[in-house]
Amino acid sequence: MIRVGIILGSTRPGRNGEAVARWVYEMAKKRADAEYELVDIKDFNLPLLDEPVPPSMGQYSQPHTQAWAAKIAGFDAYVFITPEYNHATSGALKNAIDFLYREWNNKAAGFVGYGSAGGARAIENLRLIMGELQIADVRAQVMLSLFSDFENFSTFKPAPSQEKAVNAMLNQVLAWGGALKPLRQG
Ligand SMILES: Cc1cc2nc3c(=O)[nH]c(=O)nc-3n(C[C@H](O)[C@H](O)[C@H](O)COP(=O)(O)O)c2cc1C
Repeated sequence: MIRVGIILGSTRPGRNGEAVARWVYEMAKKRADAEYELVDIKDFNLPLLDEPVPPSMGQYSQPHTQAWAAKIAGFDAYVFITPEYNHATSGALKNAIDFLYREWNNKAAGFVGYGSAGGARAIENLRLIMGELQIADVRAQVMLSLFSDFENFSTFKPAPSQEKAVNAMLNQVLAWGGALKPLRQG
């Protein structure tokens, strides 16, 4: 069975990302088509990148990098839950991504963004990064608006239609995550 990591990409106290990630995870768990796990980057306490050797060499010296690498290596595909900070993804998520390289290769990914413009610019930012990591990013994406999917910009109340968007995105992630399996074994 395909294993999908749902990666929570915001870390600040009071973050909206936690409710969004839990909502995606609960919905995903109801599907019997893959194994899903919620991965909170906050739990890994990653400092700003502190590895002396470029991650593409795979020589991780720090225990926090090794723990993060072991977690990410175990998945076939990812769903990135991304806030939009200054028209990009969060610095914390970019930093966590930068720590690793081969663990990401030949996997699939989908996105759930949130912000005043549905997190669209953060998702576009992540799509640029995916190419360099050899991650196949699917077209379907979930865009949650701070105006219509949250109350007072802080209480998460997603519009009913958003559930359909999550499932459409997950369908594509599973399809590509499975299709890339031969490359991961090679
Ligand atoms: C540093 C910072 C920059 C932000 N910049 C944007 C932005 O460029 N576009 C946008 O739509 N929302 C922006 N916002 C609003 C966030 O999308 C909103 O606060 C969201 O809840 C952040 O995710 P989090 O609560 O999980 O941290 C910004 C918020 C922060 C804290």
